[in-house]
Amino acid sequence: MSLLKVENLDVSFVLSDSTVQAVNGVSFELERGRTLGFVGESGSGKSVTAQAIMGLVAGENVELTGSVWFDGNAIDYEDEKSLRSIRGQEIAMVFQDPLSSLHPFYKVGDQIAESYLVHHTGAKKAEALEEAVKVMTEVGIPSPKTRINDYPHQFSGGMRQRIMIAMALINRPKLLIADEPTTALDVTVQAQILQLLKRLQKENNMAIILITHDFGVVSEVCDDVIVMYAGKAVETASADEIFKSPEHPYTKGLLDSLVGNQDMDSELIPIPGTPPSAADLPSGCSFAPRCTWANKDGMPCDSKAPALVETSSHHSSACFLPASGRSKLLERKSAK
Ligand SMILES: Nc1ncnc2c1ncn2[C@@H]1O[C@H](COP(=O)(O)OP(=O)(O)OP(=O)(O)O)[C@@H](O)[C@H]1O
Ligand SMILES: [Mg+2]
Repeated sequence: MSLLKVENLDVSFVLSDSTVQAVNGVSFELERGRTLGFVGESGSGKSVTAQAIMGLVAGENVELTGSVWFDGNAIDYEDEKSLRSIRGQEIAMVFQDPLSSLHPFYKVGDQIAESYLVHHTGAKKAEALEEAVKVMTEVGIPSPKTRINDYPHQFSGGMRQRIMIAMALINRPKLLIADEPTTALDVTVQAQILQLLKRLQKENNMAIILITHDFGVVSEVCDDVIVMYAGKAVETASADEIFKSPEHPYTKGLLDSLVGNQDMDSELIPIPGTPPSAADLPSGCSFAPRCTWANKDGMPCDSKAPALVETSSHHSSACFLPASGRSKLLERKSAK
C-alpha cells in the first residue's frame, strides 16, 4: 500500500472576471522512503498541488475535487480536527518562502518547540525545547543550545532553511513536502541541504515530495518525477528515465534548455514562447502553442487534450505522438 495516493485532483480559483484552473486532474502515488520530484515552470501548479494535499487551499472562491489517501485512509478535508492531526505531524511542509513562515519577533527555539507542542498536548515547554535542540542538532545548526534563543534574522539564509526543516521534522512526519527548499540559496548551501534531506529521509524512512524547477536538484535527490505543465502532469517516470529518454516534447525542451546538457558545439535551445495563463487555457493540448510537433501528421493537438498514458513500463506521457513516432517523422522528412 502506498503512503500517499492522489486521484484526479482539480483545483480552480474563481475570480470576479475569470476562473484560474491551477491544477487539472493530477493523480499519483508515493511509497514510503521515496522521493518524488515535481518540476515545471512558474505557475504550472506545483505549489497549489502541495497546498491542496495539506488542506491549505480553502475559501469561498476555491473549487476543489479529487481524493487523497494517506496511509490507507481517505483524508476528509471537511474534518478540521483530523486534518489538524495529520498536518504538521504525519505530513509536514517546508514552504517556498522561509521568511514568511518564521515569525520575526519570536525566538527560533520557541517556534520550533511550538510545532512540537501543537501535536503533543500535555508536554512541558522544557521537553519541547529539548526536542527542538535535538532536531536543530540533526539538521546541522551549530551550538543549538544557545542558538534557540536567537531570532530568525540572526541566521543566514541557509541556516534559516535548516530551521524550517527542523520545524517540519520535529514531529517525525511520514511525509515531508518541500516546496523549493533550496531555490534562494547558493549552490554549496543548496547541496548541503539536499544531502541533509537525503540523510534524514534514510533515518526515518520518510517519503519526500520535492518541488523544484531545477533538474539538477531532481537528478541529485529524486527517485521519480512528475513534470507539470499548465496544471497537468504531462510526464511521469523515474528520474533516470526522464533524463535518459524524455517522452514529452515539453520535458525534452526543458532538458535541452539546461546549461551543460548539450554538446560542446551546440547551443542552448530555449523553449519558444511562454506558458499559457491558467485563466485562459487553450482548448486542446496546453503545450501545443509552443510545440514544434503540434498538429503534425494529422494529430488533433489544437482541438483535443491528450491523456496521460503509459508509453513504457512506469513511464507515462500526455502527447499524441510518442518519441518513437517523432523519430519516424524525422526519418521520413530526411528521406524526402
Ligand atoms: N490563491 C490563489 N488565487 C488565485 N490564483 C492562484 C492562487 N494561488 C495560485 N494561483 C494561480 O494558480 C496557478 C498555479 O500556481 P502555483 O503557485 O501552484 O505555481 P507553481 O508551479 O508553484 O509556480 P512557482 O514555480 O512560481 O512557485 C498560477 O496561475 C497562480 O497564479
Ligand atoms: Mg510554487
